[in-house]
Amino acid sequence: MTVRAIIGAQWGDEGKGKIVDRFAEDVNAVVRFQGGNNAGHTLVIDGHKTILHHIPSGILREGVENIIAGGVVLDPFVLLGEITALEDRGVIKSPAQLLIGSECSVIAPYHKALDVAREQHRGATTIGTTGRGIGPCYEDRVGRRAIFAGDLLHPQRLREKVTQSLLEKNALLAALGAPTFEADTVITQLVEIGEKLRPYIRPANIRVRELLDAKASILLEGAQGTMLDIGHGTYPFVTSSHTVSGSACVGVGIPPQAIQDIVGITKAYCTRVGNGPFPTELEDGLGQELRDRGSEYGSTTGRPRRCGWIDAVALTYAARINGFSSFAMTKLDVLSGLPVLKVCVAYELDGVTYTNEVPVDADDLARVQPVFREFKGWTEDITHIKSFEKLPQAAQEYVNAIENLSGVRVAYVSVGPDRDETIVRNS
Ligand code: GDP
Ligand code: IMO
Ligand code: MG
Repeated sequence: MTVRAIIGAQWGDEGKGKIVDRFAEDVNAVVRFQGGNNAGHTLVIDGHKTILHHIPSGILREGVENIIAGGVVLDPFVLLGEITALEDRGVIKSPAQLLIGSECSVIAPYHKALDVAREQHRGATTIGTTGRGIGPCYEDRVGRRAIFAGDLLHPQRLREKVTQSLLEKNALLAALGAPTFEADTVITQLVEIGEKLRPYIRPANIRVRELLDAKASILLEGAQGTMLDIGHGTYPFVTSSHTVSGSACVGVGIPPQAIQDIVGITKAYCTRVGNGPFPTELEDGLGQELRDRGSEYGSTTGRPRRCGWIDAVALTYAARINGFSSFAMTKLDVLSGLPVLKVCVAYELDGVTYTNEVPVDADDLARVQPVFREFKGWTEDITHIKSFEKLPQAAQEYVNAIENLSGVRVAYVSVGPDRDETIVRNS
């Protein structure tokens, strides 16, 4: 039995989906614990790509139970689309493969409208959200106005909640010059979708604790990344949930000591979608080259991802917050052929040097001067390599440098998008 959390160590899109799918080979269950369909997790098996927004990344493994826990905010329309697509492919054959937590908060159409309308009015401080209604839905949870997935199966309760919610939401939308919503229309849509999802809706927390009692092996699948955490990221340019490892306990309803292993996922370089500080960003031709080589376009919105060098300061900070047992480094293959690689080893700001902490003020983080150490590149194609020792010497040195700077072992190195293109290092 192992309970292992998979956590984004950067600004999201580190390759969490790929690593979860790889690790799901020998687990009983995969559990998503926060975020919503702002996530886009890509799985590639024998060249065939699947992008998951809501469904946990264990779904392509036979016999794995996939659970969406209460910390998640859920767009039932998107989720049904994902389920239907996987049913059509013969992947989902039975509701036993997927449990939708009755305690998940529902993203209603007006949450999305409010997200988009607010962004349009933020001017210079636009966050660049995914427009999926994530922030407004989490606000309703904290404001004790949440509609739960379980409520979709109780029309009268749903009617009361939606009617109450729309009193405020329509006033806000009207003030922002956006169309308002008819309660009856929204309620009818939600009741209909609830009926379609009914076979999947059950309490997730109870099921996970049953699995723990049965000594099952479980993967806790994080979404987004540490630097997008609502409390520890680059606020306000963050998502609206806690993305760090501690969030897995809260989002599922399990104690901290239930988790034995916490794997931080980092790219071999760094990307960010949306606005906000990004100290190692490359705004020149090299940034574009990384974007082209790594196909760095968002899996959810298709937006070009901002690209830059790997940031060992932010990674060390992430390791300290999350308590990483190890790192999985993805996309090392993307760096093949670059003559010189850079690693950010410190930030300088107003006479202060930062090596393992990040300035808490986003304006300060935007002003830091990154200090880089240069590394030699390699020219060989490394995608077919199966053991660390067979990697070019320069690639090994690069990975070892991240290990030394962060104090966290890089136990897994991913050298291609496919499930099998993953090197597991000997301990
Ligand atoms: P996630 O949100 O953390 O699951 O990451 P995304 O799926 O949004 O983005 C990661 C992208 O990198 C996807 O297109 C993956 O297929 C791809 N990918 C993951 N690992 C590797 C790797 O080692 N090499 C290459 N070339 N691509 C990878
Ligand atoms: P995965 O799980 C990368 C970013 C958005 C925006 C900010 C807030 O695929 O790694 P939101 O819609 O959450 O209110 O947007 O967070 N963002 C992500 N960036 N990967 C993600 O998920 C993201 N989910 C949200 O681009 O900057
Ligand atoms: Mg993604």
